[in-house]
Amino acid sequence: MNFHTYHERTKHSYTSIRQNASYMDWNNQPSQYKCYRDKFEHINLNDQIQAHRFIYRIGGISAKKSYSSGEYFLRTNPSAGALFPNEIYFQVRGVDGFVDGIYHFEVKTSSVVLLYSLDEDGVERYLGLKNAVEGFIFLTSAVFFRSSWKYKDRAFRYCLLDGGHILGQIEASSYLMDFAVRHLYCFDKVSLNKIFGFEDREFFISASVVGVPRGELPESVEFLLPFVDGTGTFIANKIVEEVYENTLICYERRANNRASHFNFRKDVFEETIFRRRSIREMHKEGISKESFDFIIDTVNQSVMSDCDEKVEIFVIVNRVIDMPLGVYHDGKFIKHGDFSRKAGYLCLEQYHLGENSALTIFLASKSKNYQAMYQKAGIIGNRIYLSANYLHIGCSGIGAYYDDEVSEFLELDSEYMILYGICVGN
Ligand SMILES: Cc1cc2nc3c(=O)[nH]c(=O)nc-3n(C[C@H](O)[C@H](O)[C@H](O)COP(=O)(O)O)c2cc1C
Repeated sequence: MNFHTYHERTKHSYTSIRQNASYMDWNNQPSQYKCYRDKFEHINLNDQIQAHRFIYRIGGISAKKSYSSGEYFLRTNPSAGALFPNEIYFQVRGVDGFVDGIYHFEVKTSSVVLLYSLDEDGVERYLGLKNAVEGFIFLTSAVFFRSSWKYKDRAFRYCLLDGGHILGQIEASSYLMDFAVRHLYCFDKVSLNKIFGFEDREFFISASVVGVPRGELPESVEFLLPFVDGTGTFIANKIVEEVYENTLICYERRANNRASHFNFRKDVFEETIFRRRSIREMHKEGISKESFDFIIDTVNQSVMSDCDEKVEIFVIVNRVIDMPLGVYHDGKFIKHGDFSRKAGYLCLEQYHLGENSALTIFLASKSKNYQAMYQKAGIIGNRIYLSANYLHIGCSGIGAYYDDEVSEFLELDSEYMILYGICVGN
């Protein structure tokens, strides 16, 4: 199945929502944590060590919720349905606080697990790099059943969006250390899936280089890690597996090597990373034009990658002081009027968010590189969350929207795919 067919098949519509009422198989609810056995060395992350804080900020636990059914942990990164389908691995070379090696970030225990000690080798060749990297190379994967358990075939979209949020967190954490980040989408994911022992349950979706080229290209690591179950229960999803395989090759890709320039106070930004949350309901409060400009300026900063896809940002302005109401795209209004009720409807009738927000934003693209495009949408979504929360304005990702009706409302041609919605406001 190609991605066009996949995207078409996984659209929500007024009728699809009513006909395919989602059945939740509570007996098969997957775990959200992957934990390697004790025979691998576990190193507790220590917040006094800079490099450890750097890792923790990306996806560490930042809140505990207690319900009658038990305790749940939320993380610095948001995730559709709080299902957290992504896992984070990283190679580190020449960084204080770590032995050179390849690690897994074990979120459940706030530790990192040394999977392999480097021995003049590394993952660089798998990524098509020309030199050894001093610093970090992150590898983000998706354990898709955590998401397909609930979202069925549409889960591939969420694996990529949530994965994009992880990339956004890598960017945010790197900003605090004055490190640049370059994301990679076009590399030998298949070989890496194999040596990491993922079998057919987990797959790599991206890599992020946070380091500098230094010295000759090392030989490729050639270990075979044991399979570790990251869900507890499992049901295959052939559609998700097929669309992953069919979107591995990058077409006509263009690299972007322009760095981003953010304008956050670093101490306040670090605190924002730890208190970031999704707002559950908004109350029709307006935001200032300065806040609007700050969020838009943050979002429009460059995203460095080996495959930079154009993702277009459409903002339904519901309530911004001293701004007209309407739909804003690329610096100008393309529609005037109060569309707040419509915006709430388009967010699958989540009126408490889409209608009551100050801004309801939709991201759209007609790119050919589905994995790169969708993860970029997640990065943009993450920038919106953090810049809004930085200003004490609420934010929520909206993965559930009426695809075709959003396109129609925005007057987009049929080549466009709607990737993500995000609401901003209080
Ligand atoms: C890709 C994505 C889609 C989401 N879609 C929705 C949505 O449609 N409605 C909603 O209320 N929250 C949505 N959320 C918010 C999640 O429910 C929230 O991130 C999760 O419960 C974790 O809580 P936290 O963000 O406060 O840490 C979405 C989040 C992401 C990242």
